[in-house]
Amino acid sequence: MDRNLALNLVRVTEAAALHSARHLGRGQKNMADQAAVDGMRRMFDTLSIDGVVVIGEGEMDEAPMLYIGEQIGKATKDSIKLDIAVDPLDGTTAVAKGLSNAISVVAVAPRGCLLHAPDMYMDKIAVGPRAAGKISLNSPIEENLKNLSQALNKDISDITVTMLDRPRHEELINKVRKAGARIKLFQDGDVAAAIATCFEDSGVDVMVGIGGAPEGVIAAAALKCMGGEFQGRLYPMNDDEKVRCTKMGICNIEKILSMDDLAKGNEIIFAATGISNGELLKGVVYYENNMAKTYSVVMRSETGTIRFIEAIHRLDKKPEYAK
Ligand code: FBP
Repeated sequence: MDRNLALNLVRVTEAAALHSARHLGRGQKNMADQAAVDGMRRMFDTLSIDGVVVIGEGEMDEAPMLYIGEQIGKATKDSIKLDIAVDPLDGTTAVAKGLSNAISVVAVAPRGCLLHAPDMYMDKIAVGPRAAGKISLNSPIEENLKNLSQALNKDISDITVTMLDRPRHEELINKVRKAGARIKLFQDGDVAAAIATCFEDSGVDVMVGIGGAPEGVIAAAALKCMGGEFQGRLYPMNDDEKVRCTKMGICNIEKILSMDDLAKGNEIIFAATGISNGELLKGVVYYENNMAKTYSVVMRSETGTIRFIEAIHRLDKKPEYAK
């Protein structure tokens, strides 16, 4: 995999973030999402890759751009064939309400390596490198916390569990409280939350709970680059969703999806740019003279390098970012 693709992928998430951040707090989540999609799609068009979207904005009939199966990039005969997973804006509600934790993300891998996860829920667990191999989605949360406590050499009362603030997590919250661990709830953006488990300074040790399955594939790709561990299990809500799993070739819905099931191999690149402020990345900041600053991270599984990139953009030289 061409390592220079990593920087180009940062350009892709920066473009989405710069477009979408204009909509912070404007109460228009669809507009914020559309802006991110437009920005991302346009930048992808400039790349010499032979990509196909495997995780995107929906099926072809419901999304005009970045739909599943869409061909991406200016392919030449030498272009590497890629699977592309995108979430131009993870946290549409967060941007609409001016809340934190919205990011733009992309993951790429050689063709056939990223799971075509259906657009439904997934039960998830994510931990950083020190706890990799010590947790299981099959185990009760109490047991995972004990194992985590040993792996991290921390008392359970010093462990922080993070999860989406949703009524469906009430039972899980009660169990974690009973076990004595701390809890940090967040409103949106479980890709960023899963990634946070890999950074000790984030103050969170494990992410659990039910969120989007497409976001699960993207989080798995990121955690693979960082040496963490992610496990997921599809969580269909009705018979239609179960049928959709089977149609997509996922016959055993109960199966725990390992990182290799979600993001196979060791040639994965993940990039993200902050849209609104979060613990992982700051959001877009606007400066005088039509300038803006973005904060991004890009990583490659092959080398495990994690690069944080701050970029100053002269928007007067980039008419596509005009207000
Ligand atoms: P969107 O940007 O698509 O709204 O996703 C935000 C998000 O918080 C994801 O990070 C998460 O996986 C999912 O929503 C959870 O879904 P729900 O809001 O239905 O609980």
